[in-house]
Amino acid sequence: MRKTVIAGNWKMHMTCASAKEFMEGFLPLFKDLPSDRNVVIAPPFTAISSLATIIEGTQINLSSQNVHWEDSGAFTAEISPSMLLEHNVRYAIVGHSEPRKYFSESDEQINLRAKSAQTHGLIPIVCVGETFEQRERGEAERVIRRQVEQGLEQTDLSKLVIAYEPIWAIGTGKTCESNEANRICGLIRKWSGFNDLLIQYGGSVKPGNIDEIMSMSDIDGVLVGGASLDPQDFARIANYKIR
Ligand code: PGA
Repeated sequence: MRKTVIAGNWKMHMTCASAKEFMEGFLPLFKDLPSDRNVVIAPPFTAISSLATIIEGTQINLSSQNVHWEDSGAFTAEISPSMLLEHNVRYAIVGHSEPRKYFSESDEQINLRAKSAQTHGLIPIVCVGETFEQRERGEAERVIRRQVEQGLEQTDLSKLVIAYEPIWAIGTGKTCESNEANRICGLIRKWSGFNDLLIQYGGSVKPGNIDEIMSMSDIDGVLVGGASLDPQDFARIANYKIR
């Protein structure tokens, strides 16, 4: 059985003080989490160390929001796998649409990041997804297939999560219709050739749509931005109920 992964991507939000305050609200709501799911939080780099201490002994795992392919060197603004492992980070988001868009990350770089994460024992969460214009032009499947094939090249598919995040649904309040998200996730599974691949959906996930999304046959979790910043909302999402 595929164990689901519920991940919160805090992006460039939360100081150490606000991360601590979040956990004070979140941890009491999070006690009896069913064992069929993993909960992950990806804070900004500065909050990783203090959060690692706060969540010790809980069921929460830490993720980074990126990881470099070299272990050290002249790579200003980057973070290496060993720096993350020192703080018990277990996952690393790579290829999110924001660095793809703002910093022109390529599929080749994303693949290097994913492979580096795996080599060091981190589980990459590889993000893929089409823009609104690509969808309108009927190019969504071709774009996603390219991102999947290039991003996952020479990776171990049993130690990886892929997040399907239609870019037009991120931070816009427009969720991709559940059946359509499920159809694309099914295609990703088929293209990958690995039936047990863990596939998340991401894009305006909230308490009001989580149960429907998690009832879909090919969706094994969610990557949550905005709603993961609110302890009540993220706890409700982590405690999703299958319909
Ligand atoms: P959102 O972001 O939930 O705010 O739409 C999702 C993401 O960027 O991963």
